[in-house]
Amino acid sequence: MEVRDKVVAITGAARGLGQEFATSLAASGARVVVGDVNDCADTLDRVKQAGPEGAGVRLDVTDAGSARAMIDRAVQAFGRVDALINNAALYGALHGGRFDAIDEAEWDAAMTVNVKGIWNCCKAAVPAMRKAGAGSIVNIASLAATYGMPYGLHYTTSKAAVTRHFAAPAAGASGKGASGGSKSNPKSLGSAQITAAETTRNT
Ligand SMILES: NC(=O)c1ccc[n+]([C@@H]2O[C@H](COP(=O)([O-])OP(=O)(O)OC[C@H]3O[C@@H](n4cnc5c(N)ncnc54)[C@H](O)[C@@H]3O)[C@@H](O)[C@H]2O)c1
Repeated sequence: MEVRDKVVAITGAARGLGQEFATSLAASGARVVVGDVNDCADTLDRVKQAGPEGAGVRLDVTDAGSARAMIDRAVQAFGRVDALINNAALYGALHGGRFDAIDEAEWDAAMTVNVKGIWNCCKAAVPAMRKAGAGSIVNIASLAATYGMPYGLHYTTSKAAVTRHFAAPAAGASGKGASGGSKSNPKSLGSAQITAAETTRNT
């Protein structure tokens, strides 16, 4: 896949996989916009060492305005948005427990960040992608969505939502309907492409 000069927005990029996505995409020539509730300074340092330009924003994916601000920053810095990687999620921060012992606030937080967060970021990015004539969205799910986790029902439920999450938005974005399902391996990700020809593909 050629990513040189593509503008890629990545959520949850202060550490972990998001940071790796940012660094490796920058090393391949992409211009990345990294967002996180935490400071992305370390990621930006790595991006600058690895490749061309990058930009960072404070992002809370649960806030639609914050998601729009990330996309606005990408357009302001690089003129367009070619791709969005919805990576931000709660997992390690969750305590878990048997299904009837999960804290209600933690259940809500998992759904709000892991599911609504993707919705917010898709809503923010699609208008810019339409304007550019094309765009790709990658939603990070988890194998846990398929095999389940006895002590992580909130996490697995949220990720199961992600595996099917974009079928409807992709259909709406393209006007043509979406096919296939999202893959649950974090390395082979649920994605949708929105093209000028108004075709949509889920891989
Ligand atoms: N690490 C794994 O083994 C694994 C396995 C399967 C799936 N995944 C998925 O891959 C993705 C990344 O996993 P990771 O291990 O790097 O996670 P991580 O916890 O290391 O990083 C997640 C990032 O998301 C950020 N974040 C949390 N809430 C946010 C919010 N409201 N707005 C913006 N940013 C927010 C965090 O600050 C953090 O930097 C997640 O979607 C996770 O569910 C990871």
